[in-house]
Amino acid sequence: MQGEDDGVPTYLAADQVTDFDRDGFLVLPGFADRRACEALVERAAELRAAYVPRDRVSVFTTRDQERVSDEYFLSSGPEVRFFFEPDGVTLNKIGHALHDRDPLFDAFSRDPRLPGIAADLGLADPVLQQSMYLVKDAHKGGEVDPHQDATFLWTDPVTVTGFWWALQDATVDNGCLWAWPGGHRQVPLARRFVRAGAELADDGGTAFAELAPEVADRPDAYVPLEAEAGTLVVLHGLLPHRSGANTSPRSRHAYSVHVVERASTYPPENWLQRSASDPARGF
Ligand code: FE2
Repeated sequence: MQGEDDGVPTYLAADQVTDFDRDGFLVLPGFADRRACEALVERAAELRAAYVPRDRVSVFTTRDQERVSDEYFLSSGPEVRFFFEPDGVTLNKIGHALHDRDPLFDAFSRDPRLPGIAADLGLADPVLQQSMYLVKDAHKGGEVDPHQDATFLWTDPVTVTGFWWALQDATVDNGCLWAWPGGHRQVPLARRFVRAGAELADDGGTAFAELAPEVADRPDAYVPLEAEAGTLVVLHGLLPHRSGANTSPRSRHAYSVHVVERASTYPPENWLQRSASDPARGF
């Protein structure tokens, strides 16, 4: 802890803020206690065990367009819901309001150090818009294609910032994060994921509105962010990142929270919506 600013204790050293501005991400090993991570893994297993599958499970991949018209997905913003790999059996993620609906995830997501980190990175009054428990089971977890988080949680101006925790050791062979260092400064936002009825959407539940289709991805630019359990990775909303498939016999579970600036414009065409009576809340 470095000092105080506007009543929020700061957390990061000046060179860490500089690193984040340059790279678009910051890796903080040992941020969370391993036992706290294990507790979240156990809690997620309990939630999974209590989940009663619907007639047709909801599939989530970054390629599969089925989800775009899936009401189960579109109304999951304030809920705890379950999304599966294309096999329909392997859990892919739990989302998108564990931070508001489950006491254990609530406490983890509102760690008193996080407002300091957010303030250090320039967020004046962040609200927790989304949380996801990210599952990559042994030999089964699928890859996540390169993307920028601002595609899914766009605000004007762009303010989305990701907090990603390795709950289990994340390595190249079990599907760790890969990030493009400095990519947030080199490419604009490529596209926005918008609801049907929005000016930018075509037919269907949602669509990707292409903003910079002429900008090519740089597959060679990504570096692996291997992370031991308890590591926190902070991600700029414009940073291109991805994760690999789990080809190992070890699972790779992770948890993420995305915050946006309260004063920014959060448009009605964003896929994730909270009601006025149950709005996104801060730390
Ligand atoms: Fe992401």
